[in-house]
Amino acid sequence: METVLQQIDREHLPKHVAIIMDGNGRWAKERGEDRLFGHLHGVQSVRDIVEASAEIGIQYLTLYAFSTENWDRPQAEVAGLMELLVNTVRREVDQMKKNGIRLHVIGDFSMLPPSARQELSEALEMTAENDHLHLILALSYSGRWDLTQAFRQLAQKVLAGELYTESIDADVISAHLATRNFPDPELMIRSSGEHRISNFLLYQLAYAELYFTETLWPDFRRQHLYEALIDYQQRERRFGKTSEQLTP
Ligand code: FPP
Repeated sequence: METVLQQIDREHLPKHVAIIMDGNGRWAKERGEDRLFGHLHGVQSVRDIVEASAEIGIQYLTLYAFSTENWDRPQAEVAGLMELLVNTVRREVDQMKKNGIRLHVIGDFSMLPPSARQELSEALEMTAENDHLHLILALSYSGRWDLTQAFRQLAQKVLAGELYTESIDADVISAHLATRNFPDPELMIRSSGEHRISNFLLYQLAYAELYFTETLWPDFRRQHLYEALIDYQQRERRFGKTSEQLTP
């Protein structure tokens, strides 16, 4: 019998997959545990999905690890999540280095505690030579924050006479986003049954296929990723054109 993995066409993988890892809190609540218990188990899913993505040949993987809105959660949860994120990066960085994974972080770093910033920048440096899989952590990130910082840069360049207003187009805007070095995601996955983009990559998801699953993030494993990839490959991506225009 053909396994789920064998059904995936390696020639037509999305280059960039973005994931909203949702449902850790509900997973913990179902077990009568604290929300942090859910985040802790969510790390196992992160590990499995990063490993599977590298194996199958996905080139860019963006994980929504902490949104700018998440700063408003109870202080103990924020502190616990930060600690978990930093400790996970610290623990995994050697393995990432060995496996050709390059770590990137996008977000509003001014909000991060200095120790976390320091730890992350060391991990970025340690993996800077790699290019098998680009793992992008969206940390203290939101789509509106990203657009705002891009528009500020553009306004400053116009004011300084370095850029004509008429030259601003979609490519120029993309080149000022935090994701400027990565292609736009072709597939966005959200776990836990919520059907929202929740201020994630607002500009970059313009043509992405959206895939929603009921599975809570701590239960999300590589077979769920494979299912999402198969679903993606069964869709026709038209970019506003008609089907007839796409078939030569
Ligand atoms: C959403 O679940 C999840 C988060 C806000 C945090 C995601 C973080 C991890 C999986 C931890 C580690 C990540 C890395 C990259 C090392 P939720 O708390 O909103 O769940 P709920 O909707 O059920 O309340």
